[in-house]
Amino acid sequence: MYISNQLTKRSIPDLFTFENGTKVTAENADKRRAEFRVVLQREIYGEFPVSPDYVKGEIIEKPRARDCAGKATIKKVRLSFAVKGEEFSFPLYVVMPKNVKSPRFVVIINFRPNMPDEYIPAEELIDRGIGFASFCYKDVTSDDGDMADGLSGVLAKVGYNDTGKIVMWAYAAMRALDYILETEDIDRDHIAVAGHSRLGKTALVAGAFDERFTCAYSNNSGCSGAAITRGKVGEQISFITKTFPFWFCKKYREYVDRHDALPFDQHFLVSAIAPRQVYIASAIEDTWSDPESEYLCCAASSNFWKIYGKTGFIGEDRAPAIGDRFHEGNIGYHLRSGEHYFSREDWNIFLDYFLK
Ligand code: GCU
Repeated sequence: MYISNQLTKRSIPDLFTFENGTKVTAENADKRRAEFRVVLQREIYGEFPVSPDYVKGEIIEKPRARDCAGKATIKKVRLSFAVKGEEFSFPLYVVMPKNVKSPRFVVIINFRPNMPDEYIPAEELIDRGIGFASFCYKDVTSDDGDMADGLSGVLAKVGYNDTGKIVMWAYAAMRALDYILETEDIDRDHIAVAGHSRLGKTALVAGAFDERFTCAYSNNSGCSGAAITRGKVGEQISFITKTFPFWFCKKYREYVDRHDALPFDQHFLVSAIAPRQVYIASAIEDTWSDPESEYLCCAASSNFWKIYGKTGFIGEDRAPAIGDRFHEGNIGYHLRSGEHYFSREDWNIFLDYFLK
């Protein structure tokens, strides 16, 4: 009863009713997912740019013999693409395990331009046979209100004036994937996009808008990410839109202290990823993100997988507890001890899920 009671209290919009009032069925579930994307662009994240004119890469640093103890090749690439004729480029690391044919792959949206990095345990990933690419989000566009910086400036020139920066970082992750699919032999049935916190919100958006990602991994993403907004504790729309208005489109500000007026909740974002995999990780001391609201979002989204004949979330009918790992369904979840952080523990548990 815990989950149904909680979800009733939160009174979130129904996944199975189109905006025009008609009902969602197995036949038109894809249309509803397309509608989720329309709603999310209109109400919270802003408009996605059109597909790029081209994507190309130039290797600017070659692999070295001792990369990851000689078990991997690490190269740095300058990735360039154009939107409506305007070019933009940013650096990308591509890390491939040696001696693994068609590895599973993760596109990691990171805070820093480091390889490895405190949030990227490169050797652990390589030792488990995973290939990955990573870029620093600030190399795409600054994390502030400067809308002339980087991709933001490029998009403004071609008419995108209300696209939030989360969408820009997600768009860059998609371009990274374009390049990887052109140049590397990877397992196309197992491609994840991953990020922590603001970049966990970004990973969910990338997964929701690009079906080539077979899994979206959001670590401690909280408000405007994996956490249900209605009834959430910790961060609220009022704080996030005041402190980080540039992450979102302007309309999102209309919902400050008016959560009940939202025509969606974050289970729309998660359900847009169905019937592929979503992985949501929480940390118990991260009350700003609100682990319970992240857990409830998994449960609230679950039925959207059922309509595709797939298992959604298989959890327990109680509040989440430290040590929980729910890995059976296509929505995976874990809750660990400790603070807001993208830890090795998070990666190792996620990899157990991703490598199943
Ligand atoms: C702030 C912000 C969060 C965000 C976090 C992060 O705490 O309020 O929404 O997730 O930064 O990205 O670390």
